[in-house]
Amino acid sequence: MRVAIASDHGGFSLKEQVIGLLRNLGHEVEDQGCYSLDSVDYPDYAGKVCGSILDGSCERGILICGSGIGMSMAANRFSGIRAALCHELFTARLSREHNDANVLCLGARVIGPGLAEEMVSVWMATGFAGGRHQKRLAMFSC
Ligand code: RB5
Repeated sequence: MRVAIASDHGGFSLKEQVIGLLRNLGHEVEDQGCYSLDSVDYPDYAGKVCGSILDGSCERGILICGSGIGMSMAANRFSGIRAALCHELFTARLSREHNDANVLCLGARVIGPGLAEEMVSVWMATGFAGGRHQKRLAMFSC
């Protein structure tokens, strides 16, 4: 699958690690920055990843900041983006099964790298269940 990923400075180190994991899992990764620990503004990076999903160049996106909150707020302002901020495996899986989340947001200062890797693996591998959940997504028209 083609995945767009970005972070701010707070998520930079975890982003580098997640890119390695995604490539090991056989995914094609578009790294949209940031590229150092210098301070940047997370809405710029949320916009890049959401743009790649909305223009069809990537199927999924991953956004990482310190808490995950800013990235998820910024991403969910785009119509057609369903961004899920998750801190554990159960909601990471359900965000795919029930909500067809197309963006996963992670808080690098909230979860450890081991949990983050497991969450990304599960999130990438889980499909949308459809059915009654499809109708509910249609109700917020994205
Ligand atoms: C940056 O210091 C921090 O505010 C950002 O990474 C994120 O946590 C915002 O929601």
